[in-house]
Amino acid sequence: FMANRETIVVVDFGGQYSQLIARRVRDMNVYSELVPNTVSVEKIKEINPIGIIFTGGPLSTFDDCALSIDKEILNLNIPIFAICYGMQLTAQLMGGKVSTAKVGEYGKVEIEYEEHPLFKGIKKKGQVWMSHHDSVTKLGKGFKAIAKTKDTAIAAYANDEKNIFGLQFHPEVVHSEQGLDIMKNFVYNICKAKGEWNMSSFVNNQVAILKEKLQNKKVLLALSGGVDSSVCAALIQKACPEALTCVFVDHGLLRKYEREEVEKVFKEQFKINLITVDASETFLRKLKNVTDPEKKRKIIGKQFIKVFEKEAKKIGKVDFLAQGTIYPDVVESGIGKSQVIKSHHNVGGLPSVVDFEEIIEPLRDLYKDEVRKVGFELGLPEKMVMRQPFPGPGLGVRVIGKITKDKLDILRDADFAFRDEIDKAGLSKEIWQYFAVITDMRSVGVMGDERTYDYTIALRAVNSIDAMTADWYKIPHEVLDKCSARIVNEVKHVNRVVYDITSKPPATIEWE
Ligand code: XMP
Repeated sequence: FMANRETIVVVDFGGQYSQLIARRVRDMNVYSELVPNTVSVEKIKEINPIGIIFTGGPLSTFDDCALSIDKEILNLNIPIFAICYGMQLTAQLMGGKVSTAKVGEYGKVEIEYEEHPLFKGIKKKGQVWMSHHDSVTKLGKGFKAIAKTKDTAIAAYANDEKNIFGLQFHPEVVHSEQGLDIMKNFVYNICKAKGEWNMSSFVNNQVAILKEKLQNKKVLLALSGGVDSSVCAALIQKACPEALTCVFVDHGLLRKYEREEVEKVFKEQFKINLITVDASETFLRKLKNVTDPEKKRKIIGKQFIKVFEKEAKKIGKVDFLAQGTIYPDVVESGIGKSQVIKSHHNVGGLPSVVDFEEIIEPLRDLYKDEVRKVGFELGLPEKMVMRQPFPGPGLGVRVIGKITKDKLDILRDADFAFRDEIDKAGLSKEIWQYFAVITDMRSVGVMGDERTYDYTIALRAVNSIDAMTADWYKIPHEVLDKCSARIVNEVKHVNRVVYDITSKPPATIEWE
């Protein structure tokens, strides 16, 4: 199934929309995979795609370090759809010419299309999104221009015999009217896709593969309650329930009712062999008097591994360690990682403490939204599938200063009230991540006739696409008002609520 899966390869020239292109193709029900521009022709032959897309990129074909491609790929007679930089490069490699224009085109531009299968069903005129200073000014043999704008005579080209097509504009972004229809024409009219990629067939195929692989074997999975590990657990359970053991570590830094919800879903609903380890006391002891955020993260990460190791020893040797790795984890790891701002806690350290033969990662081909769809297919509750991001170190990075049981309990209640009010206001789908933080500050207040000296709770709500940058969310004042009133009324030892109005950068999403 994997080998003959209908695939469109996206060759990445470093453009900011490369991932988006692959996702768009998948949304059209064709599996799509990113490869770097250095990919060899042999590798392409091995993948045997029905079509190839070249992305845009930040460079000019005139730059010394301009990215190129194995020219043989252009001779495979696999349909090629080249966008922006990819379009210019391909024109050049095929005997055309690229020049730097007097004026570049940036933003929305009017375009006029010729008759062509690529533009089947497309209105003759429309707006597209451009971002270029160089243009293709001459085409090689067999090529013809099939669209133009005021300043660009060759806004799109085609070589029908060689099955090579190029667009100067970006069809993948929403600002290009009919852009997705053009992509769809490439995928269906030109590559003749069957369109079999969908999450219910993914589940069926994976279940069949796992069933065979896991028969009479043992699999161990560290369940965090997050989307990826939860979906991974449900998928393996569906394939081979006898094989799976899940370990869930309660580090005492979970949100209110979180542990109960995980147990309810996986133990009661899915009947998974789930071991919950209550290690909250150990974690609290190790974290006692620690205030430095990085130290907290390190301690929590290290302790997590220790607890897991102890549990894994009890279980003994297993055949497989399952991990909820997803596609963005796989592709990002190839590109140079930026400076570490916060040391991330995840289960990366687990392989060294488990006695196993092989790692299995059944979700490693999927984007997050596809993982969520699989979650729904498998019958996981919406609450779990659509869960907002939650850091591995949990509330440990939301308690400023010393972490104590009291502060954790106050935070849990305040956070629950906040999330519940957001839910009631119908905003839970609008906001990417929202939570409460307990500051290390106490201040004077008055309740009834009494003077109080209690904690300040901060509320945080942000929208983001990839967590690299984030905008603070403008929660309506009436909703904030309700949240504040409910928190001070319901949660003892809180007499002040503030709202975090910084974006990332310069702040980060979490406070520690
Ligand atoms: P920051 O605070 O760095 O957070 O702006 C970006 C996103 O990452 C989440 N986050 C973590 N996720 N392990 C995780 O799995 C961690 O250690 C961790 N720290 C932060 C954070 O909630 C936000 O969504």
